[in-house]
Amino acid sequence: IPDHYEDALESVLIPHGVIMDRVEKLAKLIVQEATGPLVVCCVLKGGHQFFADLVNYIKKNVTRGGKTVPLSLEFIKVKSYSGETSGEVKLSLTEEECQEFQGKNILIVEDIIDTGKTMVQLLQKLKQYSPESVKVASLLIKKTPLSNGYIPEYVGFAIPNAFVVGYALDYNEYFRDLDHICVINDHGKMKYAIKN
Ligand code: PRP
Ligand code: MN
Ligand code: MG
Repeated sequence: IPDHYEDALESVLIPHGVIMDRVEKLAKLIVQEATGPLVVCCVLKGGHQFFADLVNYIKKNVTRGGKTVPLSLEFIKVKSYSGETSGEVKLSLTEEECQEFQGKNILIVEDIIDTGKTMVQLLQKLKQYSPESVKVASLLIKKTPLSNGYIPEYVGFAIPNAFVVGYALDYNEYFRDLDHICVINDHGKMKYAIKN
């Protein structure tokens, strides 16, 4: 734990090593179940660390003589946690870039499914571009009464209803630079609150 976060955290929920073991297993499963080339689509910003490690493990699987599958990489920024209950998601891709999804096997890579709103809306959008298939890998799914019931094809860990940070998950853009997935404490929420 870096010094600057030492007093801001309640507990370590998932240590970095445990995350990496799980990501490696998910990578193997994804390659096993792949039916052709994959467009691996990173949901920024929170998904970037999981995406990077997942793609690395898929490459290693190939190096070790396992089944190979060609990957192309895509990045999208989606906005949520806005406090709005309806609010359509906005994709950062141009219309032309979205047309590229037609006929492809897409794997969306996300850090966390909380209410599920972001993912349900993202899937709805992507399906308008007639991909061959769309699957979702989320490192975390939160057990919350606010869930809309959406469950991804690949899940790393189901976690309790707590505000978690680290491994690219943020609180006001902080804590992305933390290896472990941790629960933030009240002091941390104050220390890293938005200041105007
Ligand atoms: C967070 C998280 C998911 C989404 C989950 O992203 O990374 O994308 O919210 O919430 P939901 O299931 O309730 O829709 P955020 O909008 O904070 O952006 P970020 O990834 O850039 O931090
Ligand atoms: Mn996100
Ligand atoms: Mg965020």
